[in-house]
Amino acid sequence: MKISLAGRAAVVTGAARGLGLGIAKRLAHSGAALLLIDMLEAELASASAELRTYGGLVEALSLDITAADAPARIRAAAESTFGAADILVNNAGMAISGTIEEFTDEQWDRTLAVNLTAPFRLVRELVPVMAARGFGRVLNISSWTALAGIRQDACYGATKAGLIALTRSIAVDYGSFGVTANAIAPGTIETPLSADILRNADPDSAFMQIVLYNKPISGPGQIDDIASAAAFLVSDEAKHITGQVIAIDGGLTATRFVPDAEGRIERRYLPKEGNLPNVVSAS
Ligand SMILES: NC(=O)c1ccc[n+]([C@@H]2O[C@H](COP(=O)([O-])OP(=O)(O)OC[C@H]3O[C@@H](n4cnc5c(N)ncnc54)[C@H](O)[C@@H]3O)[C@@H](O)[C@H]2O)c1
Repeated sequence: MKISLAGRAAVVTGAARGLGLGIAKRLAHSGAALLLIDMLEAELASASAELRTYGGLVEALSLDITAADAPARIRAAAESTFGAADILVNNAGMAISGTIEEFTDEQWDRTLAVNLTAPFRLVRELVPVMAARGFGRVLNISSWTALAGIRQDACYGATKAGLIALTRSIAVDYGSFGVTANAIAPGTIETPLSADILRNADPDSAFMQIVLYNKPISGPGQIDDIASAAAFLVSDEAKHITGQVIAIDGGLTATRFVPDAEGRIERRYLPKEGNLPNVVSAS
């Protein structure tokens, strides 16, 4: 199916690199006009220059989405660029890992501000306008860690779970006004954010085995895996999909037990040794 976003205008946060840039490219490729938001000014300038070569309307606004005046500035820029935004992609995010005892109030507050409060404030600014015009799409980029607890991730996981709850509330409150809201929960995707984790982690560690290899589709995902789903979810074709969380994680959150090539399941992560045979038949 070829997705057309011709005539649609999208605001994408965190669009200077990584998933945000990949999503922006896909939306531009499908014909959407774009307002790109990021606090990395130089990267944002080069991203928008690249996207303009696609031939569509591309504007960029460099700011920190947590700034008090950010939503009003984004709305004003959207109005002056294309009248009003049809699509909002809340993609900008940050992650700090650590044990619960290690997290400081400042780290908690900052992660919450970027990953949840800023998306909420942007929704509050832009979605009523979408509702008044009878069409809108909100796409929130959550994380698989909102769906399954992982070690040393309380802060990030909690904000991303909150983003899912926010998604469902938007869906319920605005569905009758033609506005849908969905979330994507990516697994580990190769981007600048995950590069350090992927580079520095021991490939044989239990964590890396679980997040990268003990899942139906092995290895990290690619930016396009997220971008193509994003383009569909914000399109007219997805008009009956709302309040959903689409995990794009190679099946990581679908199972703990992955059959090997012979259809056998290795018992690696059951907590108690000896309760089950070490290898059980998949059937
Ligand atoms: N890469 C992964 O494996 C993965 C997995 C699950 C979820 N995610 C989520 O996907 C989203 C994108 O991640 P990514 O891997 O592309 O990250 P990234 O760090 O490569 O890109 C994030 C972008 O957001 C921008 N940004 C961050 N805070 C901002 C702020 N306060 N104001 C304005 N811009 C800000 C950054 O400058 C950056 O350009 C994030 O929300 C992340 O939590 C990523």
